[in-house]
Amino acid sequence: MIDKKSSRRAFFSATVASFAWLIVGDRASAATPAIKAGMPCKVKGRKRKVNGVTFVCRNAKGKLVWRRKPGKAAAKIVAVRVLESSALDLGSTKVVDVPAPNGGTTGVVLTRTDAGITALRVNCTHQGFPVGRVGAVLECELHGSRFNPETGAVINGPAARPLTRYEATETNGGIYVTVTSN
Ligand code: FES
Repeated sequence: MIDKKSSRRAFFSATVASFAWLIVGDRASAATPAIKAGMPCKVKGRKRKVNGVTFVCRNAKGKLVWRRKPGKAAAKIVAVRVLESSALDLGSTKVVDVPAPNGGTTGVVLTRTDAGITALRVNCTHQGFPVGRVGAVLECELHGSRFNPETGAVINGPAARPLTRYEATETNGGIYVTVTSN
C-alpha cells in the first residue's frame, strides 16, 4: 500500500523533473540552432557544422551571414590515347597535346627507351618554357636547363626540380597518358 509520504515524494519529484525539462530542454535546443546559408551570424570566421555541412560566418555586402564552406572537388583522372604505338620508335621523343579533364590541354613529351615509355610535362620547371629533344637530353632553350628524358631529372640548371611525370601505358596498339584535374 502507498502511504501519503510516498505519494507526496513522487508528486514532488515529478514536478521538479518537469521544471528541469522546461529549463534544460529549452537551453539544449537553443545551444544548437538551425543554420541556413544567408542567415545572419555574429562572429566573422566562426564555423558550425550542421548535418555534415560546414557553415562559415562571412562578410557579405557589409553584413555577417552564414555561408556553406565549399568542399574540395574530387580530382578527375583520365587516361587519354595520345599516339599510336607505331609512331614512337625506340630512342625517339615526341611532343603531344593531352586534353586536360578540366579544359585546355597539357603538352607532354613522350620518350621510348628500353625501360618503356616516359611521359613528362613539356614545360621547364624553371620558368615554364617548353623543352625539346637535343641529342640525348631534353633541353630548354631559354636558359639552358637540361633534363633526362627517361626520368625527368635535372642534368643541369638553372631549373632545380625535375619535369612533372605522368603515368604512361601502352595497350591495344596505342599509348595512353593519365592526367588529373589537380
Ligand atoms: S625556363 Fe627553362 S631554363 Fe629557364
